[in-house]
Amino acid sequence: MTTSLGIDVGGSGIKGALVDLAIGEFATERIRIRTPQPATPDAVAATIAEVAAQTGWSGPKLGCALPAVVTAGVVRTAANIDASWVGVDACALIASAVGTPVTLLNDADAAGLAEMRFGAGRGEEGTVLLLTFGTGIGSALFSGGSLVPNTELGHLQIDGVDAELRAAARIQEEEQLTYPEWTSRVNKYLAAVERILWPDLIVIGGGISKEHAEFLGMLESRARIVPATLRNQAGIIGAALACQEAT
Ligand code: BGC
Repeated sequence: MTTSLGIDVGGSGIKGALVDLAIGEFATERIRIRTPQPATPDAVAATIAEVAAQTGWSGPKLGCALPAVVTAGVVRTAANIDASWVGVDACALIASAVGTPVTLLNDADAAGLAEMRFGAGRGEEGTVLLLTFGTGIGSALFSGGSLVPNTELGHLQIDGVDAELRAAARIQEEEQLTYPEWTSRVNKYLAAVERILWPDLIVIGGGISKEHAEFLGMLESRARIVPATLRNQAGIIGAALACQEAT
């Protein structure tokens, strides 16, 4: 069995598990430790090392997903994480905390890799867009099965406002929007996304996707729309996959 460790850093929890890469399933129980507050790079790196240790993992390397743009191991944005992450060589920082090399990527990109390999996007060769609706809106774009990283479509401006500030699942909760109210915002967003990308398939992921039976029928798009199937495991599985692929 080939396994890798995947870690998914979120605003409230840092989660990790060893993943069986042949089947895309957890090979160990999922470990979750609350995200330290303030979620500074040093504090988060130490918690990642703790999660890794608790899974029983012993190397040789791990994959880690962050809610930020990551290029060449460096964090470039911080919409939903502590601002002190911007400009940090997180790859080097986390590698020194855990003692092994690390592959780092955006959290929605990780979820997308997992859905493309083992979930709702399996076998899809066209333009596929995974959108995660949670604290923010994450996006992962694939063409011919290959990822175009860091698309950040949650920050597309709709009527002059960041889309995720109107249509993330967090906003639905905070503003107590009914599904018809929330989906009408999401539909406006989907129309804007479709105008620029013309995806063949849109996969709806993130925490709210477990409720998809309640709202999927209200979503409108030219593209086929399907729910993600790996739910909250996708980030961990995708991080583990990215680590394997980088080897
Ligand atoms: C961040 C993205 C992230 C998404 C979901 C957005 O605010 O800019 O990098 O993928 O939230 O966590």
